[in-house]
Amino acid sequence: MKTIWILVLVVFYNGISLNGVATNVPTRPPFVSIGALLPFNSTIGKVAKVAIQAAVDDVNADPSILGGTKLRIKMQNADKSGFLGIIDALKFMETDTVAIVGPQSSVTAHAISFVANELQIPLLSYSSTDPTLSSRQFPFFVMTARNDLYQMAAIAEIVDYYGWKEVIAIYGDDDYGRNGIAALGDKLAERRCKISFKAPLTPAATREEITDLLIKVALTESRILVVHTFSSWGPVVFSVAQYLGMMGPGYVWITTNWLSTLLETDSPLPAGTLDDIQGVLTLRMYTPDSELKRKFVSRWSTLTSGTTAYGSNPMGLSTYGLYAYDTVWLLAHAINAFFDQGGNISFSNDSRLAAMRGGSLHLDALNIFNGGNLLRQNILQVNMTGVTGKVKFNPDGNLIHPAYDIINVIGNGIRRIGYWSNYSGLSVVPPETLYSRPPNRSSSSQKLHGVIWPGQTTQKPRGWVFPENGRHLRIAVPSRVSYCEFVSQVPGTDKFAGYCIDVFTAAINLLPYAVPYKLIPYGDGVNNPSCTELVRLITAGVYDAAIGDIAIITTRTKMVDFTQPFIESGLVVVAPVKKRNSSAWAFLQPFTGQMWAVTALFFIIVGAVVWILEHRLNDDFRGPPRRQLITILWQVTCNIICSLIDCSEMVPPHFYLFYILSNFVTISEFLNLHIIEVHFLA
Ligand SMILES: *[C@@H]1O[C@H](CO)[C@@H](O)[C@H](O)[C@H]1NC(C)=O
Ligand SMILES: *[C@@H]1O[C@H](CO)[C@@H](O)[C@H](O)[C@H]1NC(C)=O
Ligand SMILES: *[C@@H]1O[C@H](CO)[C@@H](O)[C@H](O)[C@H]1NC(C)=O
Ligand SMILES: *[C@@H]1O[C@H](CO)[C@@H](O)[C@H](O)[C@H]1NC(C)=O
Ligand SMILES: *[C@@H]1O[C@H](CO)[C@@H](O)[C@H](O)[C@H]1NC(C)=O
Ligand SMILES: *[C@@H]1O[C@H](CO)[C@@H](O)[C@H](O)[C@H]1NC(C)=O
Ligand SMILES: *[C@@H]1O[C@H](CO)[C@@H](O)[C@H](O)[C@H]1NC(C)=O
Repeated sequence: MKTIWILVLVVFYNGISLNGVATNVPTRPPFVSIGALLPFNSTIGKVAKVAIQAAVDDVNADPSILGGTKLRIKMQNADKSGFLGIIDALKFMETDTVAIVGPQSSVTAHAISFVANELQIPLLSYSSTDPTLSSRQFPFFVMTARNDLYQMAAIAEIVDYYGWKEVIAIYGDDDYGRNGIAALGDKLAERRCKISFKAPLTPAATREEITDLLIKVALTESRILVVHTFSSWGPVVFSVAQYLGMMGPGYVWITTNWLSTLLETDSPLPAGTLDDIQGVLTLRMYTPDSELKRKFVSRWSTLTSGTTAYGSNPMGLSTYGLYAYDTVWLLAHAINAFFDQGGNISFSNDSRLAAMRGGSLHLDALNIFNGGNLLRQNILQVNMTGVTGKVKFNPDGNLIHPAYDIINVIGNGIRRIGYWSNYSGLSVVPPETLYSRPPNRSSSSQKLHGVIWPGQTTQKPRGWVFPENGRHLRIAVPSRVSYCEFVSQVPGTDKFAGYCIDVFTAAINLLPYAVPYKLIPYGDGVNNPSCTELVRLITAGVYDAAIGDIAIITTRTKMVDFTQPFIESGLVVVAPVKKRNSSAWAFLQPFTGQMWAVTALFFIIVGAVVWILEHRLNDDFRGPPRRQLITILWQVTCNIICSLIDCSEMVPPHFYLFYILSNFVTISEFLNLHIIEVHFLA
């Protein structure tokens, strides 16, 4: 009986699983269409085009990846910008692809992402790294490279590492530039640094515009310049800076990864360009060294044979090429998982778009990809290892383990001075060696190799100069007529001198940044000015601060902040001085008749006590009353004198006279002291 049940169960079970297999693996289509939208002739695009094509060929060559299905790629040259670029992209989206690799620019990505949301076609961009392309607003936009947010965090950490406080941002005034610089501002603020001057340039800035802007930049205080743009004027900025003498000692130039991309793609750059960028710091997305990466790099020259970058130079492989290659692989893995989960490829007319029919925009030609949401989820679940290392998304839609190489441009090439990783900050060892340890962001663990700064110097630039055009702090100085040692105007000049001025200049020289100031005399120079009125003028905004011997009193502390008092005073009681006639007997003056009477009374009481105690034991206190009285007087006098002059050992009574004479000066001083105290207390 039992065996029959088991048999039935086995049969039943087999039936279910067979059915499951049958429904879970529908016949896969022979090919899947994917799109790629990129400008073929841009620095990133020409590399990415080769890499994407290579990746598609590699995926198609290995039937195990997609179970026999082939990828069919449609590439569209998106070399137009602005509205035309968007229309081009829209037309491309009519072609029923399941996913699109691209767009390349963050500006187009913003516009296209709305369409992708509507049509449920995932966009996988390896180069639109604008931090505001958030996965919350644009769930169908997937950033398959490093978010610029991390690049900006890296720059902020470098700035903080070298102890600079203010930077100047030079950027293209488009979504990419503005949003990147906004992220930089946030990251700097986390480290109590800031962008002191924002210098936007139009995406098509001319040399004249760049010159005008850099002249303005040179007049400001900060010497730390961050350049963030992919516009073609990037290298021109350095050429103009070289011309204006801004590539010399004292300047620090930090660029985002556009410069490293240029250096890798068009290497070697024309000699003139290389001369202009000596000493610049730039970032590069970090990709760990691996067998896969080495293989791909060695294949690169065969892949690019026939194409050239500049003149006859071969086209170099930039990090974007690696990310573009992995993006196609990522998509292939996701499509495979999509088919595994029973997804099928079908499009349907968008009823909402169809309702807007009319006019001559053929919006109804845009179709919704029915499996879009499933494919998107599979893309975010991918867990693979590619030429860029581990490819995996964290819950907020960014690739895990963001890291950058920090590069110093020297001579003909580049030198890596360290790494930045989101995990442990700045280090000189590759980030993947740190992931096994707990994150350590203590300032002592942050480290970079030495840098050769612009002007061929290894000395860390101070980062600021006294600006030519900045607003000066207006600092009031009381022009006093008394106590000129504290603060006074040097006669006949507009300079000031004195103890307070010295303390102020010493303190301001200790600051790590420049504080331009102007000392303004306050008062008519005939009478001492009122310090309370001066303090009030600070609150009224006439002055920004004041230097001088201004007493810290309660009413004033309610209006302004004071420094710590720097003239030592301590706690004192001030009493009026009384002129008194001095004579040798002056010390007797406080002794009034009443006091003499009290003293005599005490004398008698102490004498009586001594007599009562000593009378029975001591022979000296016996005999005739006169003798007893003399002994008592002696004893009491000795006691008093002893307590005054602190005789530690008993001496014979006749010595006391000598003692009193020799110490007469001491005693009179002692009494005088007490007189003064008594006087103060009265
Ligand atoms: C590609 O760009 C280069 C400059 O970057 C330009 O000289 C060339 O004419 C462009 N080619 C095409 C086909 O647009
Ligand atoms: C597959 O496509 C058919 C229509 O072609 C549709 O009815 C079915 O629901 C689709 N299956 C899935 C899992 O999307
Ligand atoms: C969508 O509509 C167009 C015309 O508006 C039609 O040609 C096309 O076949 C429709 N597609 C589907 C999947 O219904
Ligand atoms: C991702 O893949 C690695 C092996 O390549 C594996 O160790 C890890 O557990 C996987 N992670 C997830 C979340 O599946
Ligand atoms: C970067 O670091 C922060 C804080 O340490 C963490 O919250 C965030 O998830 C990290 N990002 C990634 C992509 O790992
Ligand atoms: C962090 O690194 C510093 C220096 O390398 C070390 O002294 C410190 O103990 C480390 N802290 C932790 C929590 O590992
Ligand atoms: C000081 O001496 C003058 C005269 O020599 C006398 O008029 C005055 O009263 C004396 N003052 C005191 C406080 O004894």
